[in-house]
Amino acid sequence: MAVRKILTIPDPVLYQKAEPVAKFDRKLRGLARDMFETMYEASGVGLAAVQIGVLQRLLVIDLEDQGFIKGVFINPEVLEVSEEMQEGEEGCLSVPGLSVPHPRPRWVKIGYQDLNGTKRTVEGEMLLARAFLHEMDHLDGKVFVDQLEPDMKLEFAEDIERIKAGKPPRESKKPAYRRARSA
Ligand code: NI
Repeated sequence: MAVRKILTIPDPVLYQKAEPVAKFDRKLRGLARDMFETMYEASGVGLAAVQIGVLQRLLVIDLEDQGFIKGVFINPEVLEVSEEMQEGEEGCLSVPGLSVPHPRPRWVKIGYQDLNGTKRTVEGEMLLARAFLHEMDHLDGKVFVDQLEPDMKLEFAEDIERIKAGKPPRESKKPAYRRARSA
């Protein structure tokens, strides 16, 4: 097991579309373990393989401390989302130090495969829904700071440029869910 390097914006790999996972083997299990270890090391609650430079469609989430679930989600697809939205701050390990209010659907239903390749579904609300949608965006080469609402985009433009230049944002802040985890 190993902690891998987390790519940060504007690394070009973060803007590429990941390929479906086809082999459910030992190597995949090793990758998932490394992803958990890398995520914990960074005090994160979700990580997509893309963020460690592996262009495959899998992600890990651990929101057990927040009352949700922990798991590996392979080839995930959104099956349903609620029309009802949630407010809340969002951060990303690939955009270090930034936390920005970002609306998301309140509830999602996801279809995915587990480490054995078995097809499953899972539903999540609030923070779990946010995590699923955020990490699944990574699989399509999307980083949340490029999808902010116009006023937030403006407010955080300078910070985003600083982070792209390898500098910390003006006021370094972790989202509340991550602060809780590392407390
Ligand atoms: Ni992210």
